[in-house]
Amino acid sequence: MSLRVTCCVLGLLASACQRDAEVTAKPAYDLAMNSHQLMEWVLEPAADIVWDSAGTIITAEGHRELAPGTDAGWDKVVRAGAVLREAGNLLMLPGRAAGADWLEYSQALSGAGRRVMAAANAQDPDALFDAGGHVYQICRACHDQYWVRDED
Ligand code: HEC
Repeated sequence: MSLRVTCCVLGLLASACQRDAEVTAKPAYDLAMNSHQLMEWVLEPAADIVWDSAGTIITAEGHRELAPGTDAGWDKVVRAGAVLREAGNLLMLPGRAAGADWLEYSQALSGAGRRVMAAANAQDPDALFDAGGHVYQICRACHDQYWVRDED
């Protein structure tokens, strides 16, 4: 092998190695938001949109259905479901995940978000009510286990 060819082969190897290193380098997750902020700014606003769009409330004037009455209203619920679905992934990021059950609740939240999206896409008030209840159970289950509240 001539010197030039050897150099060329080494050069190719080096650039291939460099490319491998780039691909396998750990993504730089931005975990600046703590769980308190993630809950308050991402999860809760999305969950509130879902819960405020499902079921019935009783007012002085009688019963009022909360289900959206317009396509735009349903779209808003689809988007809130999408946020909850992705929020499950956010909770699973290394640095946030706090154990096996945590991962299970996070995955369950993504599943519940998927149900919300399906119900809202179908504009089905009963399915949305059930999906909203499912979301609530998952929030509660994780809080019961992982939310350490100060004794007061
Ligand atoms: C995988 C676990 C997990 C899931 C799922 C989860 N939470 Fe939380 N949540 C926590 C933890 C841990 C805290 C305590 C955070 C802290 O204050 O450090 C918390 C706290 C909160 C708080 C209080 C924030 C504060 O500290 O004042 C709100 C509001 C909240 N969660 C809303 C929700 C809602 C709504 C859902 C469901 C859509 C949900 N969470 C699902 C783990 C979870």
